[in-house]
Amino acid sequence: MPILRPIQHMTTTDFLIIEPFLHDALEARTLQAAFELGIIDALESSADVPVSQVLRGRSCDAAGGKFLLQVLARSGAVQLDGASVQITETFRAALRFRDLLLTKLQFSELVAADFFNRMPQLLSSSEEFMETSKLFELFDYGRCFEITPQNCLKAARWMKLTTTLTRYEAPVCVEHFDFSAHQKMLDLGGNSGEFAIQVCRRIPSLQACVADLPVVCHVGARHVAEQQMSDRIQFRPLNFTQDSIPDGHDLITCKSVLHDWPDEYATHIIGSVFNALPVGGRFLIFERQQWDFQTEPTPYGSLPVMLFFRSYRKPEFYTSSLEAAGFRGVTVQTICLDLPFMLISATK
Ligand SMILES: C[S@@+](CC[C@H](N)C(=O)[O-])C[C@H]1O[C@@H](n2cnc3c(N)ncnc32)[C@H](O)[C@@H]1O
Repeated sequence: MPILRPIQHMTTTDFLIIEPFLHDALEARTLQAAFELGIIDALESSADVPVSQVLRGRSCDAAGGKFLLQVLARSGAVQLDGASVQITETFRAALRFRDLLLTKLQFSELVAADFFNRMPQLLSSSEEFMETSKLFELFDYGRCFEITPQNCLKAARWMKLTTTLTRYEAPVCVEHFDFSAHQKMLDLGGNSGEFAIQVCRRIPSLQACVADLPVVCHVGARHVAEQQMSDRIQFRPLNFTQDSIPDGHDLITCKSVLHDWPDEYATHIIGSVFNALPVGGRFLIFERQQWDFQTEPTPYGSLPVMLFFRSYRKPEFYTSSLEAAGFRGVTVQTICLDLPFMLISATK
């Protein structure tokens, strides 16, 4: 019997329901194993399953299966009831965001070694750490200039992380900024076009251009075509540290881009954006802000973004750089998602 549930009103932050399942490293890693063993699929499609049945034919022995189910029960993903097991209502609701849950689990596993095996290098020097880090090996922008099948394959791997996070972060941004006041948006460092897709879907009058490195644009154009958005979203390959930023747009956005760059480069990009905008045009910056590890949570599921802890800034850097470049009407909003974001807008 399929399980029928009433349709619930959705909000843009509903996806945060996955966070408690990603907080503790052991619980999250065990959950990932349960997905890989097909146990979550088996439980999702039924109301109540005998433990022996759910473990039958899986690559785990009886003690391993018991350990797995007990850890899942402690995390709140399942309920163990004598000899049977069922998925909890909260976890069933979290499974609506399966793509985000799985992506965060996979990337956290990938970078866990960066934290747990190489903590001294992580603490001592970012350069030395970056040479050996799994995450920075993956995010190799140096291989995004020449379009080759191998470079596209490599880029597509890390673009999966940025695309999936952005799929859920972009709608929150749309809720806090009036995109409908604009006709032509340029998303600088716009990656796979996912931010543009999410904005354009909500703002039917908007046209978008995504500017990024050549390989990223190549892979992104495929993604946009798959989403049937190629008539509204174009790509423009460029290197924004050298090339001028194309004009003809009344809104330029930079989501999770500027933190990647040292102060002098970030300031340079802000100046180039100012030059590219018409008078009255607006610039929107949306990215994670520096957070305080003493008071903010440090969930396992956020290990990939936490690795950039040296890069995140406070809003003041951007407000003063924007004003120095000539922008006016600078506004700052702080938005708490899994971690705090800042949304900064300014007018030329
Ligand atoms: C952290 S990702 C953020 C991607 C996207 N805005 C998002 O939030 O999902 C930074 C983006 O900047 C792009 N980028 C890095 N260096 C660049 C450069 N020199 N010129 C143009 N784009 C660049 C990367 O390819 C990547 O897509």
